[in-house]
Amino acid sequence: MSVITTQRHGDVLVIISDNPPVNALGQAVRAGLAAGIAEAAGDDAIKAVVIRCEGRTFFAGADITEFGKPPVGPSLPEVVDAIEQCRKPVVAAIHGTALGGGLEVALGCHYRIAIGSAKLGLPEVKLGLLPGAGGTQRLPRVTGVADALNMIVSGNPVTASRALEIGLVDRIASADSLAEEAIAFAREVAGAAGHPVSSLRTDRIAEAANHPQVFDKFVAENSRKLQGFDAPKACIEAVRAAVELPFEQGIKLERELFLKLVSGTQSRAMRHLFFAERQAAKIDGIPADTPLIPITRVGILGAGTMGGGIAMNFLSAGLPVTLVEREQAALDRGVATIRKNYERTAARGRMTMEQVEQAMGLLTSTLDYEDLADCDLVIEAVFELMEIKKEVFRRLDGLVKPGAILASNTSYLNIDEMAAETTRPEAVVGLHFFSPANIMRLLEVVRGAKTSPSVLKTVMGLAKTIGKIAVVSGVCPGFIGNRMLSPRQSEAQKLLLEGATPWEVDAALTEFGFPMGPFQMADLAGLDLGWTAEGSTSSTIREVLCERGRRGQKTGQGFYDYDENRRGSPSPETEAIIADFAARSGRAQRKFSGDEIRERLLYPMINEGAKILEEGMAQRASDIDIVWLNGYGWPAFTGGPMFWADTIGLKTVLDGLARHADALGQDFIVSSLLKGKAEAGESFN
Ligand code: 3HC
Ligand code: NAI
Repeated sequence: MSVITTQRHGDVLVIISDNPPVNALGQAVRAGLAAGIAEAAGDDAIKAVVIRCEGRTFFAGADITEFGKPPVGPSLPEVVDAIEQCRKPVVAAIHGTALGGGLEVALGCHYRIAIGSAKLGLPEVKLGLLPGAGGTQRLPRVTGVADALNMIVSGNPVTASRALEIGLVDRIASADSLAEEAIAFAREVAGAAGHPVSSLRTDRIAEAANHPQVFDKFVAENSRKLQGFDAPKACIEAVRAAVELPFEQGIKLERELFLKLVSGTQSRAMRHLFFAERQAAKIDGIPADTPLIPITRVGILGAGTMGGGIAMNFLSAGLPVTLVEREQAALDRGVATIRKNYERTAARGRMTMEQVEQAMGLLTSTLDYEDLADCDLVIEAVFELMEIKKEVFRRLDGLVKPGAILASNTSYLNIDEMAAETTRPEAVVGLHFFSPANIMRLLEVVRGAKTSPSVLKTVMGLAKTIGKIAVVSGVCPGFIGNRMLSPRQSEAQKLLLEGATPWEVDAALTEFGFPMGPFQMADLAGLDLGWTAEGSTSSTIREVLCERGRRGQKTGQGFYDYDENRRGSPSPETEAIIADFAARSGRAQRKFSGDEIRERLLYPMINEGAKILEEGMAQRASDIDIVWLNGYGWPAFTGGPMFWADTIGLKTVLDGLARHADALGQDFIVSSLLKGKAEAGESFN
């Protein structure tokens, strides 16, 4: 059956797309739309047209899989133009998400009607692109520049009610009668003398034409967020053209910018990430009919930094949580922190106080382990010591109901050893949340040797429910993320002893696009994590910093000195401490370029990533990219560590490792997978 069909309802022609799963605007859809418009134009009995979609959503955009392939007409801009130029009014009937090219089709229509739950947006920037079918020129003409800039540069969609406020939709329809209301709307406007044509409008851009500083202001306000990305700059340039140039010239510029971006590395990297994120949810070796375990109550053990944050995920998703501690004071502190975090969110207007109380109402806090008995999933977030973890698993095994899932939030420890303490190792899994656990989107799901398919499938689904991006890891120290962090950390430390300063090392990574470098990160987390005054032996730079009271941002001093706004500046005291260690190490001191620092820090990570792949600890290279993007701030425009390595060439990485062999030391082992692929001219992805 054709993806596009037409139906006649009296004098209204309804063009219907049915192209699952998301009605992407692939070639057949575009051709069908163009044919539908031609059919309406050529039939005197037809007075108006409705475009609507079957399935879960209105067009969710261009078909991203077609990018990078030879184009086959009609192009989307041609289709949108044909719709707009139709002499009979065309009404877009929107449900689900009208995104990217989908919204551009709707903007080509003369009228738009949407149901209340619909969302409308131009997310191209998230794929390293700009809207390429007239969106940058038509949206500002319809909504005004301020809203258009926000939507196009952030890529975030607006709700139907907001769309109504800003003039992006004309009417809201009831969810169960969109098709009928759209036809009625079309019939109603059929007799009107003229119809609004987005590309001809000037009323909403007049203000910006008189106040061009709106663009500079927008750039100034968003410069930090946009740093390193090419697409947002192009988006702004195109919207500016909508105000300053005639439509035809604006469209020409939009096309030029689109073609440049779509063939560039950044967009290729970000499209890779789009598919990588969806791929990560797929687990090898799990039969499709694997049953899910119903999760109606979650237990959490330990109300510290992680336990509280983890609890919030479930409470926010409407799942009851039983939080267990060993001490009343720690429990009270944990519960108070949860409340404080929710109240802060409410104060920022992102939650109502009613929702705060609703979430808190789902929380039961207790010192009694027995209260975990009827939970369907228990996650332990107690101290990171194997003996304590084992003891916890033995206890949980004895009291939690059969069939329930037992999970550990451990950062480094072996899940299989914990599972071996129970009579149900198939029920044990690692759920490694990242700090702050209520905010960070990454979840490493650690698949133990005996973890059952049902348990895995259930926790992957649950991750989606609580808004996390889950990636499956095998059991190895530090799993995917922390395991790759280790060589970076140790190289960063070595560089200090060879003459590089913490600020040079950090700058090398922030120039690359990381939000912060290793020493800024250490200062933020606190240098005294796991440090005690009694146990301190002045044997590392970090220990000496702690002994001097330089414990990170929270004490106003760490590697850096901090002012009252938490802005860090290089510290002469830190430099003196490092110089002392460097002198005692006997290593030669020299200057390092940013490139050399990056090679020393990032190539060993790629090597570790290759070992993770070769050992089967990650299912695919793109999963590693997703971990580093969502857990550690690896810059999206490079596509993640493994994609980046592919981009610069694995041979470049291999040669770099060889060049730095002396500095990396004798214990450094080059991955045979990396070596093999580099020599064969292959890539990871
Ligand atoms: N092209 C091709 N495939 C797409 C697609 C698209 N635009 N959007 C989604 N898909 C695929 C996904 O890869 C996934 O495939 P899989 O099942 O094989 O993994 C499947 O559709 C379902 O997608 P999700 O798992 O993401 O489904 P959700 O229901 O969670 O989300 C959605 C639906 C909100 C529509 C989400 O898929 C989405 O955000 N899609 C991308 C929207 C987008 O970026 N549009 C702009 C495209 S660029 C453009 O339009 C250029 C134009 O200006 C010229
Ligand atoms: P924390 O020290 O802040 O909290 C641990 C809590 O567990 C304390 O409140 C303690 O009273 C409680 N506790 C200890 N033993 C207990 C027991 N037997 N029964 C009940 N409660 C008990 O520690 P944090 O940082 O929350 O870490 C917890 C776990 O999460 C560790 O395994 C850690 O490796 C892991 N993790 C930590 C991250 C972080 O950034 N802090 C990130 C990801 C994982």
